[in-house]
Amino acid sequence: MTIASPLLLDVPEQSREIVEMTREFAQKEIAPHAAEWDSTKHYPAEVMKRLGELGFYGLRIPEEYEGLGLDTLTYMMVLEEIAAADASVSISLSVHNSLPVTMLLREGTAEQKERWLGPMARGEVLAAFSLSEADSGSDSVSIRAQAVRDGDEWVLSGEKTWVTNGDTADLLVIMLRTDTPEERRGAHGISAFLVPAAAPGVVPGKAEDKMGLRASRTTSLSLNDVRLGPEHLLGMEGEGFIYALQALDNGRMGVAAQATGIARAALEHCIRYSQERQQFERPLRDFQAIQFKLADMATRISAARALILEAARAKDRGESVTERAGMAKLFASETAMWVTTQAVQIFGGYGYMRDYPVERLFRDAKVTEIYEGTSEIQRIVIARGLYSD
Ligand code: CAA
Repeated sequence: MTIASPLLLDVPEQSREIVEMTREFAQKEIAPHAAEWDSTKHYPAEVMKRLGELGFYGLRIPEEYEGLGLDTLTYMMVLEEIAAADASVSISLSVHNSLPVTMLLREGTAEQKERWLGPMARGEVLAAFSLSEADSGSDSVSIRAQAVRDGDEWVLSGEKTWVTNGDTADLLVIMLRTDTPEERRGAHGISAFLVPAAAPGVVPGKAEDKMGLRASRTTSLSLNDVRLGPEHLLGMEGEGFIYALQALDNGRMGVAAQATGIARAALEHCIRYSQERQQFERPLRDFQAIQFKLADMATRISAARALILEAARAKDRGESVTERAGMAKLFASETAMWVTTQAVQIFGGYGYMRDYPVERLFRDAKVTEIYEGTSEIQRIVIARGLYSD
């Protein structure tokens, strides 16, 4: 076990057991296939189903709804283990557990929780979260897809983009405008809806051809006059954007854990490679130029993890974590990009080849600086926090 291992951290015994069990499963059932899934753009439906059966769709769902009810700290460590095996699988799980589950737990009525949380915890329902649109990425208040009242019902229309699990989810939590052009209410004119993927008029687009995370599904979503009853509105009308940002505090910690997993995998490959690869009649590990890189990689990974665990502990104490989640995501994602860049360099010519794993990790790392709020958005969030009382 290297110094950069999360298992050396001081965590409760029960958390350690879950993390070790996750590592074993991930290294045996996921990691050996990650390269092939990446190159063939294969969504591992069979592994996702198995993860669902094992309780990974209910990591954050309380036991009363048959979930595992993990605290944030353990949940983060579990995501890191999955990401160290395959970052695509980790984002499919992270989006489900961090965003829709959080929103349902916080804002769902007793009936909505009853309807959705049990099936999620049992692995029967995978969920997606949809906020972005083609013209509304960072500026997410400016979304245009809408839901209009028609008697008791809502009629949903418009186009959404970059939806993780967009065509594999059974439930979509979608943010839509519910104010009229005359009464524009900005952040308070958006509502959240629980949209069954099977509802008539919900049409996912084709899976995007991405730089990395090629084994996760990202699609656009067309809403063609989708008619839903009032029980599909989540929380209060007009407050869906606020709920989405609250959930994104969790999502951003999840992306940070994912980035740390990617970086750790790259470091582990480099530790092995630097012992096997000989140049100038010595293994690479004998060269200080390599040692210094490995030392910096391990240090930054440990620092990223410390930020994530600090945010997770604060979350578990019931504190607001907006800025801490932003710091964790910012630092961990930039660490993942830096570490994987160094890893490609250490592998040299082989690092540039698809036959070696660090090239995929480098591609997978990039999006952690972009989705669930870019690094620039995280800096805005952190800076704003410096001035609040
Ligand atoms: N929790 C709760 N409320 C929050 C909040 C938070 N973390 N952050 C902001 N708010 C509230 C504000 O208090 C404000 O409420 P009031 O109007 O009542 O004061 C409201 O939200 C609007 O906030 P701002 O005035 O700060 O709005 P803004 O437009 O200036 O900035 C932003 C908001 C921080 C830039 C925000 O738009 C943002 O985070 N953008 C990035 C969006 C994002 O992360 N998108 C990723 C989508 S998910 C994804 O990537 C796909 C996937 O499947 C992985």
